[in-house]
Amino acid sequence: MSMNIKSLIDHENGLIDRRIFWDNAIYQQELKQIFARCWHFVAHESQVKSFGDFITTYIGEDAVIVARAKDKSINVMLNSCPHRGNKVCFAGEGKIRSFVCNYHGWAFGLDGKLNGMPENQLYDNTEGFDKSDWGLHKARVETYKGLVFATFDEEAPSLGDYLGDFRWYMDAILDIDDKGTEFIPGTTRSLLKCNWKYPADNFVGDIYHALWTHLSAAESTLKSSGGIHVSNENSYQSSVNGHGWEFSLANNFGNAATMGDKEIVKYLRSREEKISQRLGSVRAKMIGSVASGAIFPNFAFLPGYLTFRTFLPKGPMETELHSWTLVPSEASDEIKDRWRLGAMRTFSPSGILEMDDGENWEHATIGNSGYVTRNQKLCYQMNPTKGESIPIDLPGIVTKGQLNDANQRLFFKRYAEFMDAKSWADIPLAKPQF
Ligand code: FES
Ligand code: FE
Repeated sequence: MSMNIKSLIDHENGLIDRRIFWDNAIYQQELKQIFARCWHFVAHESQVKSFGDFITTYIGEDAVIVARAKDKSINVMLNSCPHRGNKVCFAGEGKIRSFVCNYHGWAFGLDGKLNGMPENQLYDNTEGFDKSDWGLHKARVETYKGLVFATFDEEAPSLGDYLGDFRWYMDAILDIDDKGTEFIPGTTRSLLKCNWKYPADNFVGDIYHALWTHLSAAESTLKSSGGIHVSNENSYQSSVNGHGWEFSLANNFGNAATMGDKEIVKYLRSREEKISQRLGSVRAKMIGSVASGAIFPNFAFLPGYLTFRTFLPKGPMETELHSWTLVPSEASDEIKDRWRLGAMRTFSPSGILEMDDGENWEHATIGNSGYVTRNQKLCYQMNPTKGESIPIDLPGIVTKGQLNDANQRLFFKRYAEFMDAKSWADIPLAKPQF
């Protein structure tokens, strides 16, 4: 029986029951109500550029293969053989002509179709067996400006409706010129002993932690400019369908500057005017500012650092983090490599900023093994700009000031909507306005 989650999330008063961070029954409900339902980022198109390219990842705990077929289509399918269930692909990424299962040798195409098996006459002579019924189970696939998303839910709305006006914000990274973006090759994978919602909550709107958690790291990398600057002046949080972005329009190139590479900041400055002509001055300023963003439920990025990441659930108290560095395709190889090194220095498992975060999320999770601890509420009440007007026209539910709990509260409100919904018909979608 599913649990009523709304009763655990007091969105209005900013109180959240810790149960959602430790309870296994709730976690199982998440796999069904959230992960089997939502659109999920699975790859950047540059990772599966041509026929035979594939990567493997997860949607919830479902292992999936993302592969480019001969007809150029991108296919997302379960990495589980329909014969007895074995995994058909064990590599993280590569190039291949077909996936052959280790167990009995069934062979699948890049489009997931079952192409053949050893001793195939045994099946040819079996009445009622139809090879076309036994391909790898496939997801729906749609892309948005280079990002590939998939869902296993036939009832889900289009990706465009799912993202809604959040696309306006995403364009500040994905649509700054005609050449588009790409991932630097390679995926960084690490395991964290934390609930997946801690990193999601952090990226959707928690710049507040940076002032304390990242203080020493930011001071050492930003020494010449006097450390990290975040305030509620000229900064905002915005939420669309549970996706969130918080950003400053005052402290341009803050994130990029924290990587300590002046050439990247110079490169961004040299492009600012062109981007401003293309997307307007607000988004031109958002690109490098002290900011973070997240797409519901578990895909996040940091503008400026250009690190993109997914928080893949592995039970209520463990998360597998996959991360990549996105770069503008038109950038020189030298700039791309500087970005790669900067991202490794800051937001990789050994990066100075990532280590700060991971430790906090793990201890926030592990503490819930205590019976008394796990029954306390968590405080999401910071709301210092309540009622203040927004002087510029921005999509979504907009709150003035980066330093508040607005986006995180809206993330958990959305979480409760999914967890309690019987079908997509019960899940509200904001109508695109921009
Ligand atoms: Fe894959 Fe038998 S389990 S061929
Ligand atoms: Fe952080």
